[in-house]
Amino acid sequence: MNIQHILSEKIQHAMVLAGAKANVEALVRQSGKPQFGDYQANGIMGAAKKLGVNPREFAQKVLDQLQLADMAEKLEIAGPGFINIFLKPNWLAKQAQHALNAPKLGIQLPQTQTVVADYSSPNVAKEMHVGHLRSTIIGDGVVRALEFLGNNVIRANHVGDWGTQFGMLIAYLEKMENENATAMELSDLEAFYRAAKEHYDSDAQFAEKARGYVVKLQSGDEYCRTMWKKLVDITMQQNQQNYQRLNVTLTEKDVMGESLYNPMLPAIVEDLKAQGLAVEDEGAWVVYLDEFKNKDGDPMGVIVQKKDGGFLYTTTDIAAAKYRYETLKADRALVFSDTRQSQHMQQAWLITRKAGYVPDHFSLEHHNFGMMLGKDGKPFKTRSGGTVKLADLLDEAMERADKLISEKNPNLTPSEKAAVVEAVAIGAVKYSDLSKNRTTDYVFDWDNMLSFEGNTAPYMQYAYTRIRSIFSRAGIDEATLCGEIHLTEEKERNLALKLLQFEEAVTTVAKEGTPHVLCQYLYELAGLFSSFYEACPILNAEESIKQSRLQLANLTAKTLKQGLDLLGIKTVEKM
Ligand code: ARG
Repeated sequence: MNIQHILSEKIQHAMVLAGAKANVEALVRQSGKPQFGDYQANGIMGAAKKLGVNPREFAQKVLDQLQLADMAEKLEIAGPGFINIFLKPNWLAKQAQHALNAPKLGIQLPQTQTVVADYSSPNVAKEMHVGHLRSTIIGDGVVRALEFLGNNVIRANHVGDWGTQFGMLIAYLEKMENENATAMELSDLEAFYRAAKEHYDSDAQFAEKARGYVVKLQSGDEYCRTMWKKLVDITMQQNQQNYQRLNVTLTEKDVMGESLYNPMLPAIVEDLKAQGLAVEDEGAWVVYLDEFKNKDGDPMGVIVQKKDGGFLYTTTDIAAAKYRYETLKADRALVFSDTRQSQHMQQAWLITRKAGYVPDHFSLEHHNFGMMLGKDGKPFKTRSGGTVKLADLLDEAMERADKLISEKNPNLTPSEKAAVVEAVAIGAVKYSDLSKNRTTDYVFDWDNMLSFEGNTAPYMQYAYTRIRSIFSRAGIDEATLCGEIHLTEEKERNLALKLLQFEEAVTTVAKEGTPHVLCQYLYELAGLFSSFYEACPILNAEESIKQSRLQLANLTAKTLKQGLDLLGIKTVEKM
């Protein structure tokens, strides 16, 4: 049930009947204040202006054409020409009843699309760091929302698995193998990478060999390919452990690293040259973009092939965009990476479009995010100033959650406690990221994220268990609930309306890549449930009212659970 969508269509239809152009938009929004109704249509003034008629008079004409008698109990024209819509409690009750019993809480599957989601995307022979954490968490939240709405999602883990650094990494892996070093040493990828780099910088013979391996790897030499594959596999096995701990849906099958596009690059550069888009500049091939200016105010040059023949990050992203449209047949391609890569993505995609590799209707979207900051407002680092390893961060989350839960509820059995600690620890790390508008930097703060108050994972998880305990304490099986939902009290009505706005929230997440919208929705839902629960007795009410209220409680619990699941956050029955 997407009320916003239904109202938009009806009002748009009425606007056309009242004389507006067919392409007008009704712009229906949830209204912020109850005295203005539940929803407000804001597109009428714009349509009236285009027709050159008085907006309020036009609004009246639209109102006369509106077929909303089944849904709305009152429609009013307000201000310069808004239409305020007050929904009927009976209609809301009926929809809530439907949501409770229908699959997927009664959402209507919209027109579905094929969507490529490029997220997580760590680099080979490097440990995942906090920047990849944001991409992984936010990307996975959006992917879950897209799939819930029925879209065909292709996960593309754009792993950094190609480049000149592989010569030195292969040479060092070989050295380690020759010296019979155990695989243990590779478990610390960061140290491995550093050691390889040290050898490369200080040992001329090693460096010579490394450079040779780059050439060999690129020409498909079997030995180098095998060594390279080992490095990729070890890295991805380690990352996979992080994904599992994080309850992230990525698997080994989703790896579509940079190397995948490598064979496409020579032909792309040739084509850019042939189209006159790439021009030679001191031996390199460069595309000049009028849309971007350099420091001197001249068109900015984007290198697509270096003087030594090497290709760049941009060239790969041009190929990836082309591949996602042409081969994967996607309608949309989303990339989740940090804001510092915005210009890079825009340039790669502008070149992609100029070269005619994708049509206008193919949507290329950079869902960028800000930095993760420490409590001091500086980029998140370890105490000694190093990058924070994801695995260590999750260990710390587990420790802190363990302490917290031991204090809060010492009566849990060991297995109950283990489940709660895991749900709270991982949930807190994820939710604190997901609940912020992703475009801003965000402060990573243990105390905030583990608080049972405010818009946090523990608060949301606890809100869920509280509703579940109404059922368990009274020994009521929700499958036996019967009778109809009635909305007589204001708090009941407010709760029901919010429950019916679930699909709007999920749709926004899928469309705009903004999981915080769903967090905010769930937080408000939990708040409205509390107010309802305070004002409306459930178990002591007369039987038909009790049944009705239990059903509202049940739908709230289901919606909270489903919503948290779409964010990749686990719920428990008791905490
Ligand atoms: N591997 C890159 C990094 O660590 C992120 C890749 C993002 N995706 C892309 N198609 N460029 O910064």
